[in-house]
Amino acid sequence: MQARVSSRFDVLDGHTIAGYQDSGTYRGYDGIKAALQMAPNQVTDVVKDATVLGRGGAGFPAGVKWGFCPPGVWPRYIVVNGDESEPGTYKDRVLMERDPHQLIEGCLIAAYAIGAAQVFLYVRGEMPHAQERIAAALNEAYAANLVGKNILGTDFSVDIILTWGAGAYIVGEETALIESLEGNRGMPRLKPPFFPAAKGLYMQPTIVNNVETLSNLPWLFCHSVDEYRSIGTETSPGTRLVALSGHVNTPGVFEIPQGTTTYRELFESEQYGGGIRNGHELKMFIPGGASAPWFFQEQVDLPLEGRPVGAAGSMLGSGAIVVMDETTDAVRACLRIVRFFARESCGKCTPCREGTTWEEKILQRILDGYGRPSDIDLLLDVADNISPGPYPVAADPSQGLDAVPFPPRQTTICPLGPSSVAPITSAIRRFRHEFEAKITLRDRIPVTVEAFSFDEPADEPALGTLAGAFDLDVDRSSAVKAVRHDAPTVDAPTVDEPTIEPAVEPTAETPADEPVAVETVADEPVADQAAVDDAAGDHGRDDDDGHGGPKLSGSGGRFDV
Ligand SMILES: Cc1cc2nc3c(=O)[nH]c(=O)nc-3n(C[C@H](O)[C@H](O)[C@H](O)COP(=O)(O)O)c2cc1C
Ligand code: SF4
Repeated sequence: MQARVSSRFDVLDGHTIAGYQDSGTYRGYDGIKAALQMAPNQVTDVVKDATVLGRGGAGFPAGVKWGFCPPGVWPRYIVVNGDESEPGTYKDRVLMERDPHQLIEGCLIAAYAIGAAQVFLYVRGEMPHAQERIAAALNEAYAANLVGKNILGTDFSVDIILTWGAGAYIVGEETALIESLEGNRGMPRLKPPFFPAAKGLYMQPTIVNNVETLSNLPWLFCHSVDEYRSIGTETSPGTRLVALSGHVNTPGVFEIPQGTTTYRELFESEQYGGGIRNGHELKMFIPGGASAPWFFQEQVDLPLEGRPVGAAGSMLGSGAIVVMDETTDAVRACLRIVRFFARESCGKCTPCREGTTWEEKILQRILDGYGRPSDIDLLLDVADNISPGPYPVAADPSQGLDAVPFPPRQTTICPLGPSSVAPITSAIRRFRHEFEAKITLRDRIPVTVEAFSFDEPADEPALGTLAGAFDLDVDRSSAVKAVRHDAPTVDAPTVDEPTIEPAVEPTAETPADEPVAVETVADEPVADQAAVDDAAGDHGRDDDDGHGGPKLSGSGGRFDV
């Protein structure tokens, strides 16, 4: 397959104007020259006919979106969404760093099509290299009269303004991004009425497009609709960038044909992931960003196409695929993702602000060995308050359970709150026994577990602390056997945590904001925890920031769980 958007990723000077014009699978800035030969509405028609799907998450066709600008309302704006902060997602960063002129040319084509005289290119705050590359490319493009007044001697003029965020995931949501551009705190607006195409930046018609969406346009205009549609499927033509991470041998950003490549190919092919690392087995994978419900072995033969993936209970989303092998502690991976959403909640709506915090605290105490038998139902109940009704989830043939198709319902302003529910429902439905094991064993060592009968002779030391010892009311049919995957048992790093703050409910003797030490746990071996954290993939942005402890006392006006 001929690379389209990634054709200069390996070119040393692909980020310069000379490199852009002399390498890759088309000549840089020939696309805008071709577009300028057409009327603006014809440019929109080409994008519509090619079915260029949005690559920012929802997969909405770009040409159709451009057509939503109300006629005769000016000025209009293009806003480029380069905030890319979803855990596991890093394809737009690579595009901005390695081929910034391709993105600039895409902006020009879009601006010409909708009649925008200003483009705002909003880059994630923590991507200084991308910002520098784009700034340098803009300087070159202005100097070459490819951006600015009377571009290439025509009467088409447009300015491209580079701006960047302050490090909030929520400003990836298009209306929050617009708020941020206006100088306000980045919080989403209600849709309706604030659909950006009608009421966007400064309440004017605004098209928000993802970096990859726009980066597809130069290739399209240097080729043809038929060539664009020559690979992929009828409903998902063209290629797509995916960011593969986690427990594969060769993680990375890959350009794949849309709709025809399967997850199995992506994981196993030498061209892409190169197989699960160290001969391990697949346990679960996230098929489209941290917001996506998890998939399992039964779903690996699905193609990466929106409809089948949605029907199977998840989404393609941001194109971030995280692979987790059987050494992964499902509860810990779940917490890692939920914690990200809890930290990134903008706080505007109660179910998300409070619910994600509750979810994090409950999961944290389960992992810390202070889980209560009622915690699993409590987690599901909190999740149901954020996203009522059955949440999208994959089928589980072993339990005779069908898939719940995408999308979820929400009681919130934006989908961030419901995103936190995805790992919870996925993990509890499939690995309930792992949650129960942690609650009954009260063991802080990361374990994965498989179902077993209490009649079987115990062959693992960890079983010595099973439910009976704690006098818990445990349903024995769902009892579990702990299987430690801490291969480096002997040389394992140790956790030097002399004091564990307890997950106790406040009483008269133990007021809410005074944690009480009840137990000392020292030098416990830790399984491959770094890999688990990597697999959950939150870029380390919420590591070690003082929020991760087991404390359950209320603070800052938030309720205790
Ligand atoms: C919480 C949240 C975060 C988002 N983050 C991004 C992001 O980082 N980049 C992006 O392009 N779209 C992101 N989106 C989707 C945008 O709101 C919007 O749909 C997208 O930028 C439209 O571009 P497209 O039509 O080209 O896909 C996010 C949405 C939500 C709800
Ligand atoms: S769902 Fe969460 S992130 Fe979205 S608006 Fe509500 S509080 Fe903010």
